[in-house]
Amino acid sequence: MQKATPGMVRQFRDEDLDTVVRIANSSMTEYYTRNLIMEISREWPEAFLVCVVNGNVIGFITGSKYTRTEARILLLAVEDGFRNCGYGSALMKEFLRICRENEMMSVRLEVKTDNDNAIRFYKGYKFVVTNTLSNYYSDSSDAYLMWRLI
Ligand SMILES: CC(C)(COP(=O)(O)OP(=O)(O)OC[C@H]1O[C@@H](n2cnc3c(N)ncnc32)[C@H](O)[C@@H]1OP(=O)(O)O)[C@@H](O)C(=O)NCCC(=O)NCCS
Repeated sequence: MQKATPGMVRQFRDEDLDTVVRIANSSMTEYYTRNLIMEISREWPEAFLVCVVNGNVIGFITGSKYTRTEARILLLAVEDGFRNCGYGSALMKEFLRICRENEMMSVRLEVKTDNDNAIRFYKGYKFVVTNTLSNYYSDSSDAYLMWRLI
């Protein structure tokens, strides 16, 4: 597997849409339509990033400006088969760099309370659980609100 480097991460382009939709729907339990991902891509285009390995998009991160100084991670996923190789980290690091560049002071995100892998990953990036959001997902499951300072 190609070593994860910052150079693999670039901004999302419209031509990435189908791949991003496929990765989102195979990685997460919510259902994401093309329209929804396109809508999300307009939230904060500079911070919608994809990771490219051997010419193929294998992961992405997207966020929004929740407030003037707080960013929010909306979606993060790496294709199964490419996980645990540092690609998620490459996406997260670039996202945080863009947050700093945009004078964000903190970042928040929601994650399913049973998503142990993602929770461990986020804790590794200094996110802490600040709240539990009941019935957050369409299947009525709960989310943790996680947060960190930039
Ligand atoms: C969460 C997710 C994005 C992480 O992506 P990833 O590419 O696997 O992340 P990384 O490889 O950078 O890091 C994962 C682990 O591998 C380790 N790792 C990082 N680089 C590594 C490398 N070069 N070699 C071996 N291990 C490595 C990290 O230390 C980390 O360990 P930890 O989880 O014990 O902290 C991925 O698991 C995923 O897509 N999950 C499904 C979708 C999902 O749940 N998204 C979050 C919704 S809120």
